Parts: sequence; C-alpha cells; structure tokens
Amino acid sequence: MSFWHHLPQPIIGLAPMDGVTDIAFRHVIATGACPERSATKSKGRPDVIFTEFTNVHDICQGRVMGWEPLRYTHGQHPIVAQLYGKEPLLFYQAAHVVSELGFDGLDINMGCPSKNVASSGCGAGLIRTPELALDIMAATERGLHDWADGQTLAEAGLKPGIVEKVRMARAAQDHPAPPRAALPLSVKTRLGYDSVIIKEWSACLAQGQPQVISIHGRTLKQMYRGDADWDAIAEAAAQIRQQGILVLGNGDIGSLNECIARILASEVDGILIGRAALGNPWIFHGKDVIREAVRARAQYPVPEPAVSREDRFDMILKHAHTFERFHDVSRFPRMRKHLGWYCSGFPHAAALRADMVKTNNSGDVGQLLREYVSRHVAPDVETLTAAPA
Ligand SMILES: Cc1cc2nc3c(=O)[nH]c(=O)nc-3n(C[C@H](O)[C@H](O)[C@H](O)COP(=O)(O)O)c2cc1C
Repeated sequence: MSFWHHLPQPIIGLAPMDGVTDIAFRHVIATGACPERSATKSKGRPDVIFTEFTNVHDICQGRVMGWEPLRYTHGQHPIVAQLYGKEPLLFYQAAHVVSELGFDGLDINMGCPSKNVASSGCGAGLIRTPELALDIMAATERGLHDWADGQTLAEAGLKPGIVEKVRMARAAQDHPAPPRAALPLSVKTRLGYDSVIIKEWSACLAQGQPQVISIHGRTLKQMYRGDADWDAIAEAAAQIRQQGILVLGNGDIGSLNECIARILASEVDGILIGRAALGNPWIFHGKDVIREAVRARAQYPVPEPAVSREDRFDMILKHAHTFERFHDVSRFPRMRKHLGWYCSGFPHAAALRADMVKTNNSGDVGQLLREYVSRHVAPDVETLTAAPA
C-alpha cells in the first residue's frame, strides 16, 4: 500500500504543468493561500502535487537547468516526480535519482502532445509504441525496486558527478534520507494518439502494473482543442479500476461544481486540476466540500469560493517573494505570467495585469499594488504588509 491508498477520496490533485508548477508555485499552493485573512483562511492544498515533467536524459547527464523541476520543499509532500523520455535504461537510472531525492511517487508522462516531445517518440508519442511503453514501465519499476533493495546510484550506472549532484541537492534542501521503500509508479496519458483508443491503451498500460493512471480526456491530435471527453474517461475508468488501479480524470475542470459532477458521473477515484489553478490556488480550498457532496451524491450546486481582492493581492506578493526565495531574480520574467493570471475578477484588473507583466522583481510588484490601493481603494490606507514567504 503506497501513499496513494492513504489519500482521502476522491483525490483532488494538482496536475503537472511545464513552466508553471515550479517549486515556487507548488510552495504557495502547498502552504495554502493567505493565512492572515479570514475569508479564505481554511487550509486548502491539493491532496497530491506533481512536478513539471523532467527529461530522463537531463537527469542522467546531470544538466543543471534540467534538474530544476526536481526541487521541492518539505511542505509539498506528497509530491510525485514526473519524468519523460524513451530510453528504458535512463528511466531505470532516473528512478534511483527520484527515490534518493525523497519523492513520494514517480509518474511517467505518456501524454505530452508538444512537437518536440511527441514526435521524437516521448510523451504521447509512446501511445504509438506500446511495447516500448511497457519496457519503460518495467525498467522504471526495476529501478525503484533495486534502489529500495539497497542498490546505490553508482551501482545503477550513474556517473560520479551525478551521484555527487544528488547528494548536494539533498543537502541543499535539507531533505532527510528517505526510507528504502519502492515508490509507487503511475502514468499520465491521453485518450489516444489520433483517435480514442483509451480502453485498449489502458488495458496495455495495466500490464505494467502502475498504481495510478491519470487520463486527460483528449487525444494527442486534439492538443487542447475541443472539450475533454469525460464519457471516454468514465468507460476506461470502469475497466481499469477492476484491476485495482486508481484512476484520476483530468481535463477542463474549472469549478467545484464541475469537479463534483465529473466525479459522480465518471466514478473516477479522483481528479487532477490544471489550468483552473492558474492564478487561483484557492480552488483547492473546496476539497472537503467536493468530498462531502460526492459522498452524499449531491445534485445541488455548492457555493464556489469567493476570493477577495485583498486575498489576491496578498497572494500576488507572497508568490513574488516565494519566487525570489527559490530563483535568482534575473529569472523573474518567468513569474510574470502568474502575476497576470491573478489579476482578474476585480475593478481595473486588466490595467493592473498590463503593468504586472512588465515587473522585474517583488519590489516592482509591491509598488504596483500600493499604487493600485492608493488610487482605487483608500488613498489613506497603509496596507500590503505581507511578509516575505
Ligand atoms: C502550460 C501547461 C503545461 C503542461 N505541462 C505538462 C507536463 O509537464 N506534464 C503533463 O503530464 N501534463 C502537462 N500539461 C497538461 C496538464 O497536466 C493537463 O493534463 C491539461 O492541462 C488538462 O487539464 P486542465 O484542463 O485541468 O488544465 C500541461 C498543461 C499546460 C496548460
């Protein structure tokens, strides 16, 4: 029994998003939004968090920037490292690194549709090469188990430079030595390559005995077009669950009521939320409401959480400070998209958004927020005192 089986059900998780779910975003999501304010005070974090995907090649070659997605903080547990690639040996070795870094699970990306990834046979490209997909799963499982049985990274064939890098990564983040237990394997995929073949495809994946299969309800060809097909997810879920594998549905969930309706109709064990969490970490505050409604099989609408402008501003500052805590300030432009996403749903949000996406550091962000308050809220209020995270 892995951590997956100890999570409350239905599981409400944060989907992996390249360029978005970095250590800073995961930190603000994991620590809950705006503890000082009353309206959204309740604790609300996803039950499980995925990293952005990381290339197994980058891990095994020790590319410095390639390792960036594997940084995390203690508060982010349970956290699952997502990997992509197409060489079973590299997955075998990367499984050792992920285990040594103290992650709670390892997920294989078999769903990324981007040209760079899929056309080289990685990500959703693996849907076309089921034998290779199974070889990768088998190699990863072997890596996880060999590590649990005491094999060292050097014995797994990793170069001394990589072994040292792992040691330093653990020391830098103050991660305690993880127990030698095999991490659970999971797979995140799509409905098919250019047509919906999820029943056959998931039957194939089940042979690799993952503990969880997450399904984004689109084919690769669809990219992000059209609606996620939850009927197809439901059909596949009924089949997969018979084999004791948990199923997480994913795609287009934008509100608590949609969560509830999708879970009830598809009977999945949980869901992953992606784009709806952009600029809206508060969406996870509704976890308990979702679970209660699902348990009661409620057909009535539940209230969606209201987020005040004050909470948004606190969060913007907290996220900006958190970004600087984990990244060099020269990389602040990567933070701008988040700032833009937070700026909606209050008066003059568009104008603030336009300014936010030009900021270069948290000081600029604070200045803009102060100007907004003095111009639009209360000229005499001295506010925005959120401390650095
Ligand atoms: C910017 C962005 C980056 C993504 N990166 C990844 C990734 O690294 N790994 C992955 O499995 N899925 C990735 N996805 C797909 C999401 O995890 C999710 O499957 C998809 O967005 C559908 O869910 P949603 O409608 O809740 O956003 C990404 C999606 C977006 C929008």
